Amino acid sequence: MERAYAPYSEFRVGVAGLVDDGRVVAGCNVENAAYGVTLCAECGMVSELHATGGGRLTAVFCVGGDGQALMPCGRCRQLLWENGGPDCLLMTPEGVLPMSVVLPQAFGPDNLRLGQG
Ligand code: THU
Repeated sequence: MERAYAPYSEFRVGVAGLVDDGRVVAGCNVENAAYGVTLCAECGMVSELHATGGGRLTAVFCVGGDGQALMPCGRCRQLLWENGGPDCLLMTPEGVLPMSVVLPQAFGPDNLRLGQG
């Protein structure tokens, strides 16, 4: 969070994820003068996940500038679902919750199998 590049919103975000092999991957938000192409902190974390060997996220903690738990935006919940699945744990302002609660009835890889859709 301290390394966030957020000159426009001044809203700093940091996120860390525990990987199933014990690695810890992290990210911060990186804004852009073209506001719409801003990268959320979770984007950087997921990029590090894959760039450092892949694996599955088992637990994630996202914080805002106050250091308190911050709920990932809708798009980033989708990123967490893809890379952690329903059992990945997320720290929320209401305590630790699984992604199956944070993103109920999620669309995911399973929907692309068996010709669904
Ligand atoms: N932001 C994140 O990094 N992750 C989220 O899940 C919510 C929003 C960032 C994007 C932008 O730089 C700032 O917070 C304000 O929206």
